[in-house]
Order: sequence, then C-alpha cells, then structure tokens
Amino acid sequence: MSVTVRVPAKVNVQLAVGAARPDGFHDLANVFLAVGLYDEVTVTPADELRITCSGPDAAQVPLDATNLAARAAIALAGRHGIEPRAHIHIAKDIPVAGGMAGGSADGAGALLACDALWSTGATRDELLAICAELGSDVPFSLVGGAALGVGRGEQLTPVEVGGTFHWVFAVADGGLSTPAVYREFDRLTAGTRVPEPAASGALLNALRAGDTAALADALSNGLQPAALSLRPSLADTLAAGTTAGAAAALVSGSGPTTAFLAEDEASARKVADALMASGTCRNARIATSPAPGATIC
Ligand code: C5P
Repeated sequence: MSVTVRVPAKVNVQLAVGAARPDGFHDLANVFLAVGLYDEVTVTPADELRITCSGPDAAQVPLDATNLAARAAIALAGRHGIEPRAHIHIAKDIPVAGGMAGGSADGAGALLACDALWSTGATRDELLAICAELGSDVPFSLVGGAALGVGRGEQLTPVEVGGTFHWVFAVADGGLSTPAVYREFDRLTAGTRVPEPAASGALLNALRAGDTAALADALSNGLQPAALSLRPSLADTLAAGTTAGAAAALVSGSGPTTAFLAEDEASARKVADALMASGTCRNARIATSPAPGATIC
C-alpha cells in the first residue's frame, strides 16, 4: 500500500519585497504561478521515517530531517499523536535550490500523501497551517494554480488565470541560498526607503486575460538585483533568452533559475534551443502554466 502525490514547481510573476521585519522575514506581495514541472512524492508504510530521492539532481537533495518532506511527516504525525513511520520517496524533476519551490513542493506532497496513508483526516485548513509552519512557499505548493501571497508569502488569495502561458526555464549550475539572497537584498537596499509591497493591478489583469504580451510587460522580481549581484553570470543567460525572442526574462524567485515567457510553444522551443546552444545554462526546460496543486495520483 502506497500513496503518490504529484506537486508542481512555481514561478513568481511578481515578487515585491518590503523591508526586513523584526523577525528577519520580509513582507511580500508575491504572485505565485504554478508551472507544469513536477516532483512525485510516494509514501509507503515503514518501521521508521526514511527518505530516498531519484532523478538527475538527487545527490543534491538532503535525506535527513532538514528535508521539508521529513519535516512535514513529523509535523503531521506529531499533531495526531502517531509515529511518523513512512518511507518517503521523492522522484525529483524540479530544479534543486533553483528558486522554483522544489523543496516546498516535496513538503506539501509528503504532507498530503502521509495524510492519506495514515488516514489522519486533517482538514484542508489544518494542512495549510502545517504548510505555513514548514515554509513561506509551502502553502502555495499545496493549492497550485495562481495566488497572491502576502505576509511572508504564506497568506494566499487565489488569482484567476484566463489562458495558458508558455515558459522556458534555464537551470543554472549550482543553487542559490534563499536566506543569502534576502541578505543581499538587505545589503543593496540599506539606507534607502523600501516601499510597502503591493500587488500590481496590471499584472493581475494580464493573468486574468491570459494575455502574454501584457504579462511580459508586468513581470517583476524585487530579488533579481540581489540574485544578479551574487551570480553576475545570470545576466548572460537572461540576455541569451531575450535575444532568442523571449517576450520577457526574469530570475525565478531567489534564483538562480531564470524564467522566459514565450508567445507560444514554437517560440518556447526556439528560446530553449538557443539557451542550450548559448552555454549560459546547464539545461533549458519548457513548461506551461497554470498547473494544479498537489494531487494524489
Ligand atoms: O519561509 P522559508 O523557510 O522558505 O524562508 C527561507 C528564508 O528566506 C528565511 O529564513 C528568510 O531568510 C528568507 N525569507 C524572508 N522573507 C520571506 C520569506 C523568506 O526573508 N517573506
């Protein structure tokens, strides 16, 4: 008996970042869009909690209690007074430490899978509360689609999407640490007035209309200067995709994955081929959005 859950990656189509709060987190206006690159999390009864991972980047995934999938299982079991006895296997396809919420996806996936395996009968609100404890991006991995996240990004309101968007994701060599990128944001903005983050009306309208050109104009990522400061070579990747005809290019979340919006599938393929040929990234992946949230297979 086992349960498998499929969970999507995300791109932030808007990431407005406020000043650091007293708790070190930053208030955000964070418009998440789920994209069709997926991890699959399978849980099977076992004598103790164990994590395994497969996929090309599996060696970079921690298999100890720091893995969000392990933390999700422990949190759920703790709330229900049971032992977290499960073998969690992650079939990893989302870039690791890439700014696409791969770790968060595994946390949300393990939570939903363990809930089904152990018949804990947790409510959706309880699962969302555990997700928010696990990390700022984890609730969105559970719900998918598109959503505006405020607070540290965990307080979600669904956002309507009126069409399919085509993306190319350029996977960089190595990851970037999210806390390090936020620290660099603090360093770059020190002594300046950081405006209160607010969702862009133009961006929400573009999503609602399914309008690629309007979305291209409205994309923004407040962490991009910090990611570029830590990894200047990402500017070459962004330029390669733009030269190849991408409608827009930006760093995905805290990076170092870069995201390219394309007019259609043919254009996405052209941009992906050009990125691969440019030598400025390790891999280029094509995906569409929106995508559903964590789903039992
Ligand atoms: O919530 P999560 O564990 O994913 O956050 C990872 C790190 O990213 C935090 O420790 C913090 O340094 C930074 N962060 C932040 N403000 C947010 C979300 C994350 O400063 N809203």
